[in-house]
Amino acid sequence: MGKIVIAIDGYSGCGKSSTAKAVAKALGYTYIDSGAMYRAATLHFLNHYLSPSVPQEVDKALKTLDISFQINPDTLRQETYLNGLLVEDEIRAMRVSERVSEVAAVKEIRKALVAQQQKLGKHKGVVMDGRDIGSVVFPEAELKVFMTADLETRAARRQQELLEKGDMVDLKEIQTNLSERDRIDSSRAESPLIKMNDAVEIDTTNLTFEEQVAQIVHLAQKAI
Ligand code: C5P
Repeated sequence: MGKIVIAIDGYSGCGKSSTAKAVAKALGYTYIDSGAMYRAATLHFLNHYLSPSVPQEVDKALKTLDISFQINPDTLRQETYLNGLLVEDEIRAMRVSERVSEVAAVKEIRKALVAQQQKLGKHKGVVMDGRDIGSVVFPEAELKVFMTADLETRAARRQQELLEKGDMVDLKEIQTNLSERDRIDSSRAESPLIKMNDAVEIDTTNLTFEEQVAQIVHLAQKAI
């Protein structure tokens, strides 16, 4: 059976990552979290006190940036490494969420990370989620999904996720962060978040997790 590329794009906090991960598992595909790469790059800027708005500092950051993924042998979960250090939890913290869209709007950073994403997906059999996967990273993807959900639902889900990690964050703060990221991601000059004409839109507001996974797996089986 041939393998395809599944591109899942959409607004912040729609459950793209957990859905994409489950779809990949159901199909025996590799899951690639492109957002984790932008988050790791942001952490690199923060750790080294570099500014994404100063070209020399962007240059410096890119020269010293190494992002990779490894499967944890105990949990079998894919984890993100920044310059050899495990940063999976750190990149999900609010201090990174608050700065990531600013870093992700920089052309040179996108160029470097898109090249790495294309390399990771070149043999197909991948599910990749992000903002520009169906438009820029894999415009020829055999299946493109655009996920949405209303802001209140997204914020409540994100708050629950953070709580499960022991991180108590105010709902209003999460809502503000999600809508601010949506605004920056959709209006930036470089690869803005857009719904492609050939993408299937799935509104997950009233869907259970199992339902949204099943819908995408079904679409994938038709596309393979
Ligand atoms: O997917 P996640 O919410 O972890 O992504 C974090 C941020 O990374 C997004 O708000 C966006 O600014 C950026 N991003 C991007 N392009 C992608 C994936 C993520 O610009 N393909």
